[in-house]
Amino acid sequence: MKERKRESFGGSIGFVLAAAGSAVGLGNIWRFPYLAAKDGGGLFLVVYLVLAVTFGFALLTSEVAIGRKTKQSPLTAYKKLHKKSGFLGVIACLIPCIILPYYCVIGGWVLKYFIAFVTGHGADAAQDDYFTGFITADYEPMIMMTIFMAVCAVIIFIGVTSGIERSSRILMPVLFVLILGIAVYSLTLSHTDESGVTTNGLDGLRVYLIPSFEGVTVSKFFYIVLDALGQLFYSLSIAMGIMIAYGSYVKDDANLMKSINQIEIFDTLVAFLAGIMIIPTVIVFLGADGMTKGPSLMFVALPKIFASMGVAGDIIGTLFFAMVLFAAITSAISILEAIVSSLIDKFKLERGKATLIETLFAFVLAIVVCLGYNVWYFEFDLPNGSTAQILDIFDYVSNNILMPVVAIGTCVLVGWVLKPEMVINEVTKNGEKFNRRGLFIVMTKFIAPVLLLILLFMSLGIIPELG
Ligand code: PHE
Repeated sequence: MKERKRESFGGSIGFVLAAAGSAVGLGNIWRFPYLAAKDGGGLFLVVYLVLAVTFGFALLTSEVAIGRKTKQSPLTAYKKLHKKSGFLGVIACLIPCIILPYYCVIGGWVLKYFIAFVTGHGADAAQDDYFTGFITADYEPMIMMTIFMAVCAVIIFIGVTSGIERSSRILMPVLFVLILGIAVYSLTLSHTDESGVTTNGLDGLRVYLIPSFEGVTVSKFFYIVLDALGQLFYSLSIAMGIMIAYGSYVKDDANLMKSINQIEIFDTLVAFLAGIMIIPTVIVFLGADGMTKGPSLMFVALPKIFASMGVAGDIIGTLFFAMVLFAAITSAISILEAIVSSLIDKFKLERGKATLIETLFAFVLAIVVCLGYNVWYFEFDLPNGSTAQILDIFDYVSNNILMPVVAIGTCVLVGWVLKPEMVINEVTKNGEKFNRRGLFIVMTKFIAPVLLLILLFMSLGIIPELG
């Protein structure tokens, strides 16, 4: 059979925006600010930044280079590099298969909130049982998930250049402007509570930026490093085949080093801005305790804050959820593409057929995830100490177990089996300079695998989490 010509991104900017679109997601907007507030503000920021330019850089570079070198999807790329490492490709492809269904369920939640705010029902969304009421409802979460998933499937069906690249070129700049605007607005907020104390946005900014060493012991610091590591890893969308798939669409004459730096800067900047957007808002209205709300922050605490702002809150709430929705769409399409490209490469399927098959598969699992909040509700204790429903179990297996496994495997493959020169040669094949070369080698061979192993042990409950 004649090989079809592989699609490619039209230009470097297209690739950078698509990859940044994948990287910038719910993790940046909701999880990063929450971890920063929990882990000593500026202290967490510094640790995160150091890890981003060392650990994150090494892993991201390896994956993008593997993609461009092999011109294969995750499922087939590892095997092409090294016969015996094909199993890594299978796990790397399994991860997006597990993530996609629940990511679309959460995408559906975001869509629901966006619709609530844009139709002027933001006040309803601020009611106490709104969130629980919605996710436990019979059909609505399924309908929202279906719409969200269908939009992603259409983009992927259209293809790499006209679908992924074009949508990212539109959505990412808009997302950036929105987040910048809301961040600046949040600094201007001010609120006086019942006892007459006025807090303003700049007070919140101080909590975010000034490093707090209060209660930081050596062991606490170690946990802060691991929090930052886990976050970084998830935030850059590494270890699940996505960056291999996207890397395989990058033209041979493109400057990979430059693109990788831009992707990292974009992802980190958005996470940082999300902190400026969320932390002052929460501190002004709920005080320092507000930031400990963790997961429920985005769907429970923020709508309450928007509602208390009056008309401005309706507008800010609409813009906020539009922005989150864009972030979720560009991430979800990257997850879908990792699988679709694998089906195309492995089974020589047409793009349309591959998209349809995976979407149907993800749809069935997503329905199961939705049912996990009503008919099939149960409480399951995970080895890392948290209580889980079906969604959390999917999340745990993919993020906490399989992703570290693939990342460790990739480090061993690149660092020891094929040697780091494989990646370095790919990145510098047009005469580009490989900055941080020594760092890349030490990271890939020694530091990253060890850190990842510790992270994995912690997920498995072998090393306890800090209560
Ligand atoms: N990187 C995304 C974020 O920071 C999350 C993501 C996970 C994207 C899995 C794609 C796949 O939120």
